[in-house]
Amino acid sequence: MKQPLLRKAAPMLAALLLASLACQTVMAPFSGQPAESATLAAPSQTAAAATPPPLAACTPGSAPRPIYDSLPPNPAHASIGDPYAPELGNLGYDVQQYTLALTLDPRPQGWLCGRATLTALVTTTTLDEFALDFIGFAIQSLTVDGVLAEYYRTADKVVIGLDEPLTMGDEFLVQIDYQGEVVRRPSPYVPFTPSLGMFFPDPEMIFVVSEPDGARYWFPANDHPRDKAAFRFELLAPEGFTAVANGLLQSETPGPEGTTFTWQHDYPMAPYLATVAVGKLELIESGYSNGVVLRSYSLPASRAELEAALQRTQAAIPWLEALLGPYPFEAYGYVTVRSGGITLETQTLVALSTFMIEDEVLIHELAHMWFGNSVSLHSWGEMWRNEGFATYFQILWNYRDDPAGFAAEMESLTRGLDSTPGLEPLNDLSPANLFGRESYFKGAALVYALQQEVGDEAFFEGLRLYLARFGGATASDADFIALMEEVSGQDLGEFFRVWLEE
Ligand code: ARG
Ligand code: ZN
Repeated sequence: MKQPLLRKAAPMLAALLLASLACQTVMAPFSGQPAESATLAAPSQTAAAATPPPLAACTPGSAPRPIYDSLPPNPAHASIGDPYAPELGNLGYDVQQYTLALTLDPRPQGWLCGRATLTALVTTTTLDEFALDFIGFAIQSLTVDGVLAEYYRTADKVVIGLDEPLTMGDEFLVQIDYQGEVVRRPSPYVPFTPSLGMFFPDPEMIFVVSEPDGARYWFPANDHPRDKAAFRFELLAPEGFTAVANGLLQSETPGPEGTTFTWQHDYPMAPYLATVAVGKLELIESGYSNGVVLRSYSLPASRAELEAALQRTQAAIPWLEALLGPYPFEAYGYVTVRSGGITLETQTLVALSTFMIEDEVLIHELAHMWFGNSVSLHSWGEMWRNEGFATYFQILWNYRDDPAGFAAEMESLTRGLDSTPGLEPLNDLSPANLFGRESYFKGAALVYALQQEVGDEAFFEGLRLYLARFGGATASDADFIALMEEVSGQDLGEFFRVWLEE
């Protein structure tokens, strides 16, 4: 007989359209967002709730062990400790790899079934239970090291008990079989879209947009950038469809149900940057850039537009490498998705809205591979370091042959901000404003002001050192500031106090 999980007295824990920097006049980056984004989730919400999955890979699974859902939510370890987003992430372990075997059929709208296999290392003296972020779905089987484990679920977490405690450094393997209709809930951080995670815009497409808190709506995750891992995807898609994901395509195996596309990305990746897409996608191969595989996927209707944009922007990788150091991953490209007005810098394979195939967007997302993806935020409250740098380099690309034009542009952007009332401090953004004009435009203005403050040489040397030192991991604002002080030899305390706190 299995004991229920013993609870210790756990204290309760207390697109984006920035594209058109036509709004250089510091308009909200989302103004003019196509109305389509608002309709994203609508079609699938009407889908039959219990449509059985048509592809046989959705197996019934074994009987789960008891679920204790009356136990207290939010045990102490069920937060990774980000004060800006304490609901996200968990402590006690470090995920090494996610393998996501998913049956992805866009025809039964909103239905997902899958098997997530996580390998993780224990990072605490003794681990007798641990939590994962996971919302919705019926769990059909949950094993730890091959043995059915007991667990309970709260609204946002699955808390798993271990029969034998593990100790620091132990490796363990969690396997969860799940299926159901994806849950759609608005994110407090992204008020301009009705939900995050996996989208089924029509019966011929599936795509994912998870930033910042949406990975947990499509796979069980330690859903915070502080826990990065390698990813493997085994994606079963029906005949005639192509399934894509981060990294490199390993194999394409036809079977009676459809084709399994296996993708692997061996670089550390935050869960919110994991992506899959399914559609009638066409491969666009663009060769290599300095050893990096360039491959994109397009819906037939966007192909000509994407190919032309790729032509115009292909020099941007070597241009950024000259400024910042090597491109941090093995591959790069875009997949066009019918997402309305949302584009996300998903690692190595940007989910690009068919409405946003514009050079500025392509460069902005490319810059995120260095800023946000290779070096990730230690706290979501430091968003300016993602969006400010991506916006800065997007503008710099525009003026790459015109330094005076660039300076004039950045000065006008900065003046526009000075005369904009009601901006929030960059280090104290309300959640609904995480992707607002402060992060993008004030962030870019800060980056430019820093360049003026320390001079070009220390500025770029500092950026290269920052990317080299923290690449593959996270850095905090404090890390960034200390590094820029180290490289410039200047005390930047007052500079950053004014820019971040006022
Ligand atoms: N980081 C994205 C970009 O700048 C913006 C994403 C906004 N949307 C979202 N669902 N988080 O391209
Ligand atoms: Zn961005």
